[in-house]
Amino acid sequence: MPEKVKTYFGDSDDETVKQTPNPPAELPNEEAARKKRRNKKRKRDEPTDEPPSRDGKPVIQDEPITSSLSMTENSESIPEIAGHDRNGVEKAQFEKSALKPKHNSKPKSLDNKTNFTSLREKANTLYEQRKKLPIFGHADEIRKNLRDQDVMLLVGETGSGKSTQIPQFLVNEFWCRPTDTKVTQKDGKEKSIKVGGCIAITQPRRVAAISLARRVAEEMGTPLGSSSPASKVGYSVRFDTSTSPSTRVKFLTEGMLLQEMLHDPCLTKYSAVVVDEVHERGVNVDLVTGFLRNLVSGDNQGRGGVPLKVVVMSATADMESLQGFFQEGFKLQAEEQKRIQNGSAKVEQEEERSKDISVCHIKGRQFPVKTIYSPEPVHDFVDAALKVIFQIHYKEPMPGDILVFLTGQETVEALEHLVNEYAIGMDPALPKVQVLPLFAALPQAAQQRVFMPAPPRTRKIVLSTNIAETSVTVSGVRYVVDCGKAKIKQFRSRLGLDSLLVKPISKSAAIQRKGRAGREAPGQCFRLYTEKDYLTLDETNTPEILRCDLSQALLNMKARGVDDIVRFPFLTRPPREALEKALLQLLNIEALEETGSISEIGRHIAKLPLTPTLGRVLLAAAENGADCLTDVIDIISCLSVENIFLNANSEEKKEAAETARRDLYRREGDHLTMLATVRAYAAENADRKSWAERHLVSHRAMQSVMV
Ligand SMILES: Nc1ncnc2c1ncn2[C@@H]1O[C@H](COP(=O)(O)OP(=O)(O)O)[C@@H](O)[C@H]1O
Ligand SMILES: [Mg+2]
Repeated sequence: MPEKVKTYFGDSDDETVKQTPNPPAELPNEEAARKKRRNKKRKRDEPTDEPPSRDGKPVIQDEPITSSLSMTENSESIPEIAGHDRNGVEKAQFEKSALKPKHNSKPKSLDNKTNFTSLREKANTLYEQRKKLPIFGHADEIRKNLRDQDVMLLVGETGSGKSTQIPQFLVNEFWCRPTDTKVTQKDGKEKSIKVGGCIAITQPRRVAAISLARRVAEEMGTPLGSSSPASKVGYSVRFDTSTSPSTRVKFLTEGMLLQEMLHDPCLTKYSAVVVDEVHERGVNVDLVTGFLRNLVSGDNQGRGGVPLKVVVMSATADMESLQGFFQEGFKLQAEEQKRIQNGSAKVEQEEERSKDISVCHIKGRQFPVKTIYSPEPVHDFVDAALKVIFQIHYKEPMPGDILVFLTGQETVEALEHLVNEYAIGMDPALPKVQVLPLFAALPQAAQQRVFMPAPPRTRKIVLSTNIAETSVTVSGVRYVVDCGKAKIKQFRSRLGLDSLLVKPISKSAAIQRKGRAGREAPGQCFRLYTEKDYLTLDETNTPEILRCDLSQALLNMKARGVDDIVRFPFLTRPPREALEKALLQLLNIEALEETGSISEIGRHIAKLPLTPTLGRVLLAAAENGADCLTDVIDIISCLSVENIFLNANSEEKKEAAETARRDLYRREGDHLTMLATVRAYAAENADRKSWAERHLVSHRAMQSVMV
């Protein structure tokens, strides 16, 4: 089978946030009155003042949906969302109307007052939990930092509340409101625009973006995404955007933010961008930080002078290098300014600019976790994990769920099968087990199951890839089983391909995994490797940009107007040969002109949520008629989901699968075999599920292919 192709880039066309029409120009005296009111409000928000309702009340109580009917003063503090007038009554009517079902929109189950009340009650309950998070005591410090400075770096252990709380701390700040301003267009004309109003929080993974959005919506007592026009929290991941006209907090993958930058390079929709999980150092986060550095240290002309706030968050990252990275941006800009002004006080400017970055450390809440190493090196970690799981289940009291870190879909599914098989013969007096897989290619609904509590007298066993290392919090876990390995993307220059290789994890990843056992109570971590092996692990993960095919990253930069790749601010600069190789590849697929600038074809490819090579194949297919295009789309779909072929876990099964699949095999190669499979599956009208079972084809993956 071919290596699985991972594409991270979002399709820009699925953006559902409607562009709001520009409001009619205001009369000058009205404008003045409004400014005055705003200034008054701003004054109240100054750090020296007591910030209103910031000290221990849930956000839902800041902006109760029903009581906004009577708000006049406070309505000014609520931003003019989605073109709605800032007049309090209209705003209130808008929100009130959201409570009633509309003929043309179908809010799912959230269309009456009772539901809003229950949302609020849930939020109030969750507020009690939020108050106990380690980050909660830092709320004022964080708000003050960002009032004073545009860039903040935040370090806090996994589970301290970074991803869920930061957007809620900031969303009601004065700088987070949409501002009417003017920008000069290319033709020299001025244009009125609205800038800001929304906070973006980027995540390396789709599953984290969605689960965080769901959680934060619950905490804020608002419906999620497109389920209601009054929803304040939404998300945007590849092929799935759920936002509303009122969205103020948006969780999105790094790839989606890069896509949004194609259309809106200055990110005018946002007042702040929070870059989360920066320590994972995927290639997209390096691009995002580079673009953001250019934005924050630029002149903000494209944003009509409104600064963008940037928060960079991490569980482990070495913040000094990040601080240096952003500081360098400010310094270069100061020098540039100096050059223009021809010799004004350089040092002063530098000093002033270096104040623009604040750093905040959150001490996490961590119960002790006992580490148990394997006494001998383990040959088959799936088998070893099975033994440890049942050892825990037999010995340890309830409650206490088990989180197992494995390498990928294949090992997760193999172990899932084994645990379920073993559980059948278990002593009926023991609690039951519920096995839940978790990996990136798993469809969303299946991923969400891991967040639900297990039924009574049942131990949850989550079998996960490194997805659960830092991005998602699975509650209830007290036991971690760590196989010590992960699939890591590696560019193999001889093949000219990215491959996912199983490699030992870093020490820092092992520590993260272990930490997962001690979030709610003291826990235990079973490492399926020896202590000696642990000591030989690398200290930290190597940034992906140093070990992946850079053609997609470069095309991304070219499409966003970065022509001089060498001068782009990379958090870690990739080696020159890797850059050259990627440029050559882009040239070969005609994504670049001979001069090195992006071609029309390149622009098209950059908009597709695919690697440049697959994007090029798709464009080429489109030139060869509809039939060819449909076939290529089918093949690319197969490559973009989890493996469509199930792994046989026994020799008999393997043989049976080979016989069953005989008529699907194509001598020409895997791609045509996939096409034959899609066709045969689509032609099956009676029972696709049993067809898939007979052919050892994943029904779940095929459903994703057919979407
Ligand atoms: N989807 C969720 N379901 C249940 N609880 C959650 C969920 N997401 C977060 N939490 C709770 O919120 C806490 C803080 O999570 P989070 O903000 O993601 O922390 P951090 O980003 O610092 O790792 C977690 O420890 C957990 O208790
Ligand atoms: Mg987080």
